[in-house]
Amino acid sequence: MFELKARDGLGRIGLLHTKHGDVETPVLLPVINPNQMIISPQEMKEYFKAKMVITNAYIIYKNEELKKKALESGVHDLLNFQGAIMTDSGTFQSHVYGDVDVDPQEIVEFQRKIGSDMGTILDIFSEVDDDIEKVQEDMKKTIQRASKATEIKGDMALACTVQGGNFPKLRLDCSKELSSLDCEIHPIGGVVPLMEDYRYKEVVNIIIASKRGLLPSRPVHLFGAGHPMFLGLAVLLGCDLFDSASYAKFAKDGRMLFSDGTRKLEEIVELPCSCPICSKHCVDILTEMHKNGDYKAIAMHNLYVTFAEINRIKQAIYEGNLWEYVEKGCRAHPNLLSALKALRHHKKYLERFETISKSSAFFYTGPESMHRPIVYRYEKRFFDRYQHPKTRVQVGFDEGNRPYSRFYKKEIDKILDVCDAHFIVNSVFGPVPIELDEMYPIAQSIIPDELEPETLDRMRRLMERHSHRGLFELAVMYDGDETLQFLTGMGKGGTFDIDMQRVKSVADMQFGSGAADVLIKGEVELVKSKRTGKIRNVISEGKHVLSMRASDGLFTLKEEGARRLHRGFSAPGLRVVVEEDSVQFNREGKNVFAKFVLDCDKELRPMDEALVVDKNDELIAFGRLMMNREEMLAFNRGIAVKIREGFDKKE
Ligand code: GUN
Ligand code: ZN
Repeated sequence: MFELKARDGLGRIGLLHTKHGDVETPVLLPVINPNQMIISPQEMKEYFKAKMVITNAYIIYKNEELKKKALESGVHDLLNFQGAIMTDSGTFQSHVYGDVDVDPQEIVEFQRKIGSDMGTILDIFSEVDDDIEKVQEDMKKTIQRASKATEIKGDMALACTVQGGNFPKLRLDCSKELSSLDCEIHPIGGVVPLMEDYRYKEVVNIIIASKRGLLPSRPVHLFGAGHPMFLGLAVLLGCDLFDSASYAKFAKDGRMLFSDGTRKLEEIVELPCSCPICSKHCVDILTEMHKNGDYKAIAMHNLYVTFAEINRIKQAIYEGNLWEYVEKGCRAHPNLLSALKALRHHKKYLERFETISKSSAFFYTGPESMHRPIVYRYEKRFFDRYQHPKTRVQVGFDEGNRPYSRFYKKEIDKILDVCDAHFIVNSVFGPVPIELDEMYPIAQSIIPDELEPETLDRMRRLMERHSHRGLFELAVMYDGDETLQFLTGMGKGGTFDIDMQRVKSVADMQFGSGAADVLIKGEVELVKSKRTGKIRNVISEGKHVLSMRASDGLFTLKEEGARRLHRGFSAPGLRVVVEEDSVQFNREGKNVFAKFVLDCDKELRPMDEALVVDKNDELIAFGRLMMNREEMLAFNRGIAVKIREGFDKKE
């Protein structure tokens, strides 16, 4: 039903398979009101390339004429749209009018009968100020209805909505329960009132709580969140489908949507848009048309802007800069900024989905950037995995140009002449040992000269935490010749070998502490690029164990490296365990598909190098992960590990 094509954060480009064609996500489904189509489904396809729309089965069901036609010739003919159609159930009407007059089973059956590609249960919409007992009771009913709906869904994909009001714990409970049911997609419901009041922080907390309980293999629809301003944040947190009725509702009120907010027609002097509508019409004409009850042009603009926003988000995923894009976009409204800031409380969860490296650099957009999962990962690994070389002295440098070791080469040489020192940079990421200066995202980052107090504070705190470990007899910040003179009394010169230290430190940071001892032993030769001088290959005891990538300063495993890690790290460390059916294929160098994965080390991340073993822990191949553990256990489609090499026979 759903497979991954690209990823960034929890955001993903996915492919949704429906009976009426494949639909790429994230996707915006324009809401079609069968009673009032200001923009027809054909126009949705022609002007906006819409491959999927959403309509309301309850409205069709309640209108004798529409109902008859839909039952006779199906919802696709009714709307004259041969793309994919999702239907909703009447839940939203019950929120607006207090109640709906339909049986929960009957409305699901009706959706199946009219040939909906994706039908929705009649979930119970919890209101924002309902108390926890009421929300819990309604949520239980929603789960019961979902469970019964799975029995009658037939070949229709079923959408089981997560409710739970404004209580993240209930959202988590609800999504866990729904995950165990046989259904295809999970909308997150009940957020419209929060969206309307710009209560984005609460929506973000609801999304994350729901995502935690849902299977990553099922697409998530955020019901009623079609404003372009919020889409980036929602995609970053793993929402895949959106519906928009706003384009029409706002147009009717004379309001135009933009990616940075909403503007009333009468407030607009210059149209800040070049969509086909705004290119052709001036604001006076649009105002005149609106006065005369013709608001189709504004609705068209609203859709152009929203579709364009989805495209921009997808492009950001491909470029690997969705975090940057969202951080920038969240400056559009203080409440969006609050929502962005709230993500720092979830970094431990978000980190599990963050790739090891990217092809794009880390751009600092403000203090929020330092709460990204990749920064948290560096901090955690530095304190948990990094092994300090045993020197008497540690010399600290201020942040300089990258790579640091080249920028500070002269100073390092002078200091090593007089004492046995190791070097650390007081970087924006926290303390960075000099030899980690080429590792992602340290070198691949662009940071402004002047930093905000919040960021400086964090740097200071991390440096203090590091110093308090008391790993050195003496730690000083380098302050020119004075420091040099002072260090001259510290005994004889040092033997710090940055190349050797680089391969050891990166190995520990990337694979876990102890990896360097396992991988790099005996006589070691480092082969460097003649052109760049960077380390390319690590040869240990005559065997090629690792290659270092120039792009991110991390290692690619070689056959001997994989064997050594397998011997040196006990299960489940660094391993993906595959089913017997997969073993021979992987031995032959073919990729591991997610459906054959039995288990995976919890510490592995997408794009990590990993070992592939059978259920007896025999090493059969090694390669690069495309997914984390929870994804490979959930997905039935797609590649879990891109194999670099397979092992033909036993060692
Ligand atoms: N449309 C907007 N919100 C909701 C919701 O919570 N449930 C359903 N089924 N549809 C919606
Ligand atoms: Zn426009």
